[in-house]
Amino acid sequence: MINQTRMAYDDAGKGVPLVFLHGFPLCRTAWRKQKLALESTFRFIAPDLRGFGESEAPQGKMTMRHYADDVRALLQKLDVGPAVLVGHSMGGYVALAFALAYPNFLLGLVLVGTRSGNDAPDIAATRKATATKVKTGGLQELIDLMAPRMIAEQHPGFPEQVRNLMARANPEGVTAALLGMAERPDVTGQLSGITTPTLIIAGDGDVIIPPEESQSLSDQIQDSQLNIISRAGHLVAFEKPEEFNQILKDWIALKILPPQNTNLH
Ligand code: MLT
Repeated sequence: MINQTRMAYDDAGKGVPLVFLHGFPLCRTAWRKQKLALESTFRFIAPDLRGFGESEAPQGKMTMRHYADDVRALLQKLDVGPAVLVGHSMGGYVALAFALAYPNFLLGLVLVGTRSGNDAPDIAATRKATATKVKTGGLQELIDLMAPRMIAEQHPGFPEQVRNLMARANPEGVTAALLGMAERPDVTGQLSGITTPTLIIAGDGDVIIPPEESQSLSDQIQDSQLNIISRAGHLVAFEKPEEFNQILKDWIALKILPPQNTNLH
C-alpha cells in the first residue's frame, strides 16, 4: 500500500535507480522496451500511477503533486535513496512536481515529450468536458482519439499495442488525472532553480506536445542536454527504443555515474 492505495510497480535489477513515470492514459508497460534494455545494468522502477494500469483508482481529482507524493512514498517503501526520475508527458509534469518538492531525492531528471506550462483556459475547459464524458461513457472515445496520434509512423502492430497500453486505465483514474492536469500550475518560472543534471528528449514528429516545448525546457534548465529523435512521435521511447535507450545510457555515463578510477600505474 502506498499512501493508503494499492499501487502496482516493477522493481528489477541493481545499480543506479531509474524511476520511469508513464504518460496519460498509459501504464508502466509503456516502458517495457526500456526495462528489457536497462534492468541488467540499473535498478529499473516503474509504477502505474494511481488509476492507471493495475493501480487502484482515486476518487475526485489527482494533482501532479499528489502523484509526486505517491512516487516519493513508493521510493521510501523500497528504501531507494536519490534516484533518476524519467517522466514522459504527464509523467514529466509529475517529475517536475517531484523535482520542485523533493530536490534532495533526485540524482537526475529526464523529461520526455513534456512541458512546464499549464493549460490555456480553452484547453482546461476541454479537459474538464472530457473528464465528464469519460466518467459517464468510458474510455473508448478518448482512446480512439489519442492512440493514433501517439506515434509518428504507423509501424505494423503499433496502433494495437498503444491501444492496449491505454485500455488498462480506470475511468475514475482518467477523470482524476484530467481534472488534475487542467488545474496544474505553470512551473516555467521555477525551472531556473533546478540544479540537478537534466536530459530532455522529444520526437521531432510529436503532434501532442511539440518539440519546441522541449527546446524551451532546455533553454531554462541550467545543466540540461536536449536530444530530438527524428521520425518519432509523442511516445518516443516506445517508437524509437534503440535511439532513446542509447541517449539515456550515454547521458547517465556522462552525468550520473561516478568517474571510473583511472589506473595511474
Ligand atoms: C500525456 O501524454 O501524458 C498527455 O497527452 C499530456 C497532456 O495531455 O497534457
